[in-house]
Amino acid sequence: MVKRTGQARRLEAFYQQSVDPWGFEIEEYEQERYAATLAVLDRGRYEDVLEIGCGEGAFTFRLAERAGRVLGVDISETAIGRARSRSVEYPNTSFIAMDIGAALPQGKFDLIVCSEVFYYVRPFSRLNIARRLLERLAPDGELLLVHSHRSETTTWPDVYGEGGAEGLHRLFTHYLTMITVTSRAMDGYQIDLLRPNPEFNGIIRPIEMARLAVANTRAVVTHDVSEAARAILARTQSLGRRTTFQ
Ligand SMILES: C[S@@+](CC[C@H](N)C(=O)[O-])C[C@H]1O[C@@H](n2cnc3c(N)ncnc32)[C@H](O)[C@@H]1O
Repeated sequence: MVKRTGQARRLEAFYQQSVDPWGFEIEEYEQERYAATLAVLDRGRYEDVLEIGCGEGAFTFRLAERAGRVLGVDISETAIGRARSRSVEYPNTSFIAMDIGAALPQGKFDLIVCSEVFYYVRPFSRLNIARRLLERLAPDGELLLVHSHRSETTTWPDVYGEGGAEGLHRLFTHYLTMITVTSRAMDGYQIDLLRPNPEFNGIIRPIEMARLAVANTRAVVTHDVSEAARAILARTQSLGRRTTFQ
């Protein structure tokens, strides 16, 4: 059972409004995005695949054709219910309702797909989730990231995409030092296929953490309108401004 945070409630309500609320199965843009994403995968087949934020499974079922098993997780129980009811046609797929901010499935995966998801995760949780995703990758596994270049949205509240795809993907390449296998700047979005850096020791320098906190603070202030939150964040920000970075 997923704990109903504000974002979880909003996403659940969005899925309850209609089937395929984003138009993933019908929009031409999405079909092209899925084709371009699959084209970046450099192996013909992956044995164990995890897709986080899989929604109703639109991309999961496409992935299933290139995989031994695909596990899809999403915060919306409605979306997962719909994905499960379609999965009879794809017996190598399974689905779990789960908030990636709270937990991730156990096991190691040869491919982890994270497409259009990181915006919905609160900025302060992102690096932790990124770390946990890296821990779930097999040593020769690959991480596939797909996010929009846009850094803001006016249509969806509380989505913090500061820096757009570039900023989000940098969490993995800069802080976790993951190695880029393929990088494609598409019209409107970015696809990056990454692999773990075997020399990464899991340590992120405090100066890097401070940089990230300051960057996140600015992003939150942009979107958060509560007075109390502004006061706290303004204090953190002024601390940030006093910090000198080498
Ligand atoms: C824009 S949709 C992308 C769907 C699919 N990955 C794609 O690229 O077509 C974002 C999905 O992420 C899910 N999501 C957002 N926050 C999540 C979280 N904390 N844990 C799990 N799923 C989440 C949403 O419910 C939604 O289905």
